[in-house]
Amino acid sequence: MLRVKIQHKYYLTCTQCGYVTPNFWTWFDQNQQCPQCGSKHSEVWYNRRYQRLSRIFKRKPDSFWHYFPFLPLLRRRHIISRGEGAIPVERWSFLEDFAKKTYDLDINVYVYRNDLNGGTGTFKDIAASLAASLFKELGINQYCIASTGNSATAYAKYLSMANVNCSVFMPEDAIKTSEATISSYGQQVFRVMGDYAKAKEIAANYAKIYNIPMSTGNIDPIRVEAKKTMVFEWLRQMNKFPDVYIQAVSGGTGPIAIDKGIREIKHVYPELNNPRFLLVQTDKCDPMVQAWEKATKAGFPEGFEKDYPVIDNPQSDVPTLATGNPASYPIIARLVKASGGDFLRMRESKLLSVGKMMAYEKKVIPGPASAVAMAGFFVALHKNRIKNGDTVLINLGEGPNRAPYFLEQMIYTSHNVSNVEDCTPHSMDDFRNQLWKELLDD
Ligand SMILES: Cc1ncc(COP(=O)(O)O)c(C=O)c1O
Ligand SMILES: [Zn+2]
Repeated sequence: MLRVKIQHKYYLTCTQCGYVTPNFWTWFDQNQQCPQCGSKHSEVWYNRRYQRLSRIFKRKPDSFWHYFPFLPLLRRRHIISRGEGAIPVERWSFLEDFAKKTYDLDINVYVYRNDLNGGTGTFKDIAASLAASLFKELGINQYCIASTGNSATAYAKYLSMANVNCSVFMPEDAIKTSEATISSYGQQVFRVMGDYAKAKEIAANYAKIYNIPMSTGNIDPIRVEAKKTMVFEWLRQMNKFPDVYIQAVSGGTGPIAIDKGIREIKHVYPELNNPRFLLVQTDKCDPMVQAWEKATKAGFPEGFEKDYPVIDNPQSDVPTLATGNPASYPIIARLVKASGGDFLRMRESKLLSVGKMMAYEKKVIPGPASAVAMAGFFVALHKNRIKNGDTVLINLGEGPNRAPYFLEQMIYTSHNVSNVEDCTPHSMDDFRNQLWKELLDD
């Protein structure tokens, strides 16, 4: 814990009224909101020379803490890290070949391998690492979070490492493995009988009654600051910044953070723009897609972004993404619109086919939310959302360890046998046609 609160490294600015909060101590004293207008959406800015970035890019990171000068922590000794954020952007040329063969498009396709994160193997690890480190510095020892699973798992792990108590509120349908993981770290789980919206509501009341800080969700400056480093990493690893960004969306911290990261360094990288955000939801929980389709039909009337449906108790096989009440849609919709992007719907009936194809072609087994993003690539091609010459980046958010039930359904080469006459050698190639057919069949 650090007692000196006067610092000149960073400050927070309210996105609504411009009010400046000098540091995170004050931010938490203010109940994580602007005292002038009440908005919870403040952004962190730094009194730092960004010209240093290009030098930093020349070195290989051990974690996203590589970008320490541009993160809101004052002392490196407070860092709690497990190598998160030091993950590769990989070129997956078989997807390029597919786009060429099927749509006659010359594109470059990359994936961002969040499954390789050192903490819990999801794209929530960097935010949890920053939160844990910051709480250590600020002296916060109780925290709470409502989450569909992955954020909670990451926060539970990293906050445990920082000795911070974390109460987790999960919806009824959250994956059992997430609950078990959180519990095993010694953090408290409240499984809320109801959906994610209900879990958020109870968590907010709990936070109020016990005066415990709670994550403010997709605009939480801690999450945004961690995730904006994705922009730095892509600049470091890629020859060309992506034209198209594909992500499975639940609340949309990803695009919010990318936009923030780009605005932060725009003065040193003036040619940098937001990629076209292609955000993917499943047909079982698609409030953003529905809202977007309605707005598209109506020609994006004034205030279109405030018009979105609420899906109560969404029944999805991807509970991680099941945000039925997308309160952040107004922000995300504006970003997607300005970027020339789109919201895409994939069918959950295709999830396993996508998963099996990825595992076969790349030997990378996705978690269900990653399969949703990958399916988005095929939907995007089909809907003509990818153009000749585009560089496409698909954010794979998780590996299979978060959802063993999903992996177990990928068995397709097994035979039950009782004697050797039932067993014959196989040729792996035979499976390829079968898998692709299954994927592309209607
Ligand atoms: C693996 C994975 N992908 C995507 C998402 C969606 O994240 P967001 O919509 O907040 O950017 C989540 C959220 O839980 C996730 O765990
Ligand atoms: Zn304000």
